[in-house]
Amino acid sequence: MVNLLKILITYFSQTGNTEKVAKSIYEGCQGEDVELKPIKEVDPSDLKNYDLVFLGSGIYASRVNKSLADLVAAAQDLPPKFVFFNTHASKEAYQDGFKVVKSKIGQSSQIIDEFDCCGDNIGVPEAIRKSMLDRLPEDKRKEAEAHQQWLKGRPNEEDLQNARIFAQSVIKKL
Ligand SMILES: Cc1cc2nc3c(=O)[nH]c(=O)nc-3n(C[C@H](O)[C@H](O)[C@H](O)COP(=O)(O)O)c2cc1C
Repeated sequence: MVNLLKILITYFSQTGNTEKVAKSIYEGCQGEDVELKPIKEVDPSDLKNYDLVFLGSGIYASRVNKSLADLVAAAQDLPPKFVFFNTHASKEAYQDGFKVVKSKIGQSSQIIDEFDCCGDNIGVPEAIRKSMLDRLPEDKRKEAEAHQQWLKGRPNEEDLQNARIFAQSVIKKL
């Protein structure tokens, strides 16, 4: 009998970008015993029943949503392994996004990998984006416009394919 890995993919997603990545990770995990759930549907006492939990969020004010740390803190026992994933719009203000979650996990579990993905900032209305750009000096405005253009529509199909490949690579090394 083949022993399937029991995997949970759970996420917080305000505007849908992280949800798209979560679905692609789910697709990459096919063949295992895998579940995909928004974080609000996860019972903390169930976490210990998984071999591996993929935990994801968009980045808001440099951090993942608080529900991730709350979930981990509310669980009496944690799964042996976590993988983190995020979507973010800035070039830098995301790199320490899981700081609080990591401190809650402490030494209890291994964080075996992380996946970062760009996500278009669709939560900020176009008019506000434009007025923010207009306030910048010309060189900075051009740079910011180029960045917004590069972010447009992301995660795109290539990003989602990378998420599937990432999930497969995580499973392979277990
Ligand atoms: C209120 C708000 C704050 C944000 N703050 C950051 C930030 O600090 N750093 C960053 O890289 N992206 C930031 N973003 C962009 C989001 O992280 C990005 O669009 C992400 O893909 C959103 O994920 P979601 O669609 O799953 O909610 C912010 C977006 C919103 C709406």
